[in-house]
Amino acid sequence: MQSKKEEMNGDFLEHYFTNNANLKSEMRQITYENGGTVFTFWSDLGVFSKNHIDYGSKLLVETILEKRKKQNLKILDVGCGYGFIGIVLGKLLNSEVTMVDVNKRALHLCEKNRKENQVEGSCIESNIYENVTGKFDLVVTNPPIRAGKSVVLEMLEKAKEYMNEEGELWFVIRKDQGVKSISKVLEDTYKVEKIATSKGFYVMCAKSC
Ligand SMILES: C[S@@+](CC[C@H](N)C(=O)[O-])C[C@H]1O[C@@H](n2cnc3c(N)ncnc32)[C@H](O)[C@@H]1O
Repeated sequence: MQSKKEEMNGDFLEHYFTNNANLKSEMRQITYENGGTVFTFWSDLGVFSKNHIDYGSKLLVETILEKRKKQNLKILDVGCGYGFIGIVLGKLLNSEVTMVDVNKRALHLCEKNRKENQVEGSCIESNIYENVTGKFDLVVTNPPIRAGKSVVLEMLEKAKEYMNEEGELWFVIRKDQGVKSISKVLEDTYKVEKIATSKGFYVMCAKSC
C-alpha cells in the first residue's frame, strides 16, 4: 500500500487517471520468490504499488496457488499494473496469460516483465473488457477501488462473459473497501465464496451459478 506521503503528493491517484507522457521515470526493480522461483518486476513512478508487491495482490496469488493445482490454463488479469498477478500465475501454473490495463506505462512495464520472466501471453491496453476477446479459465483482479464502484462492479460482473463454463473469477478487496456489499451484488450473477482473509483483505472466488 502507498504511504500517506505518496497519497498527499497525488502519486496514489496518478496511476488510475492519467497517461501523462511527461511523468518522470525512475525505474526500479522488485523481486518476489515463490517455491524457489524468483521473479523480477520492473516498476516506475505512476504505477500502482511502485515500490513493493501489494499485500492484497500477494495474498490473492498465493491463495490461488494453494487452492488451484490445475495447469495449462488461460488466465485473464484485469487491471494488471506491472503484471505481478498474471505473471506469477502464468509461470507457476504453466499457463497463458492475457493482461489488460488502461495505464500505458504499466502496460509497457508489464510486457517487459512478462518477457523477462518468460511467461507466455500478452499485455493489452483495454478499458475493462473493451479489447478483450475469448474465454478464460481464470479471471483474476485486484480491482481499482479508487476508479469508483461502477468500474469495479463492471470488471467483476462482466467477467462472466469472458469465463469458460467451469471458469472462476478470483478477486481481492479490503473489508473497508466494501467487499461485503460488492459480494452481495455479485450474488445475482455468481456463487460467491470467501476463500481467505488476512490483515483486512478478503480473497473471493466467484463461479457461475
Ligand atoms: C489495484 S491496481 C492492481 C494492479 C496490479 N494488478 C497489481 O496487483 O499490482 C488496479 C489497476 O487497475 C487499473 N485500472 C484502472 N481503471 C481501469 C479500467 N477502466 N480498465 C482497466 N484497468 C484499469 C489501474 O491502472 C491499476 O493498474
